[in-house]
Amino acid sequence: METINNTDQQIYSMPRIGDQAPDFEAVTTKGKIKFSDFAKDKWVVMFSHPADFTPVCTTEMSGFAERKSEFEALNTELLGLSIDSIHAHLGWVQNVRQNTGVYFDFPIIADLDMKVAKLYGMLQPNESETAAVRAVFFIDPSKKIRLIMYYPLNVGRNMDEILRSLHALQVSDKHGVALPLNWKQGDKAIVPPPKSLDELNDRLADTTLEKVDWYLAKKDIPNS
Ligand code: BEZ
Repeated sequence: METINNTDQQIYSMPRIGDQAPDFEAVTTKGKIKFSDFAKDKWVVMFSHPADFTPVCTTEMSGFAERKSEFEALNTELLGLSIDSIHAHLGWVQNVRQNTGVYFDFPIIADLDMKVAKLYGMLQPNESETAAVRAVFFIDPSKKIRLIMYYPLNVGRNMDEILRSLHALQVSDKHGVALPLNWKQGDKAIVPPPKSLDELNDRLADTTLEKVDWYLAKKDIPNS
């Protein structure tokens, strides 16, 4: 994991794909958590938003809440974060529920001291020194970081793409395949290229694959 010291000698970590997710303890809207004990044997989608009671963030958090059952179907727990107090979180959750009926029924970390935001590279000082950017970390059941998205303060995320990416990671793991441009459930998957002449000859002889050439071949995968 890359660690950056800025001129104020503050430590900003920048976790990368393949790293173990840094451990932390935090206060959330669902009580205290220790990340290493959170969501055992499940995937975690951990995401930050710049601030409570702001418009884009309200649409995004509502998006996570409204599609929570789709994350659950993918064995995934949601975990939000912003650099706000627990009281602000509680007030905002209640306010959105009263206004729209949408309930943010997942833990949201109150990261007032910015400890977790700095640990996960969510605080990017040239974008904002006080608000977390819109980050999404996809963390597998072994607590390894598998995919990271960063969006600036002024552009909201795409929930279809977040769910598609999570599903693609799980399908890739399960079937040992790679997923092409715009892959979605039901599409063919890419078979890893051959690594020896024997494998290459087997590939050329295989009539079950859809082949553009020996290095670009696709196959059907069962719905999963
Ligand atoms: C918003 O969520 O609307 C927002 C938050 C911080 C900066 C800009 C927009």
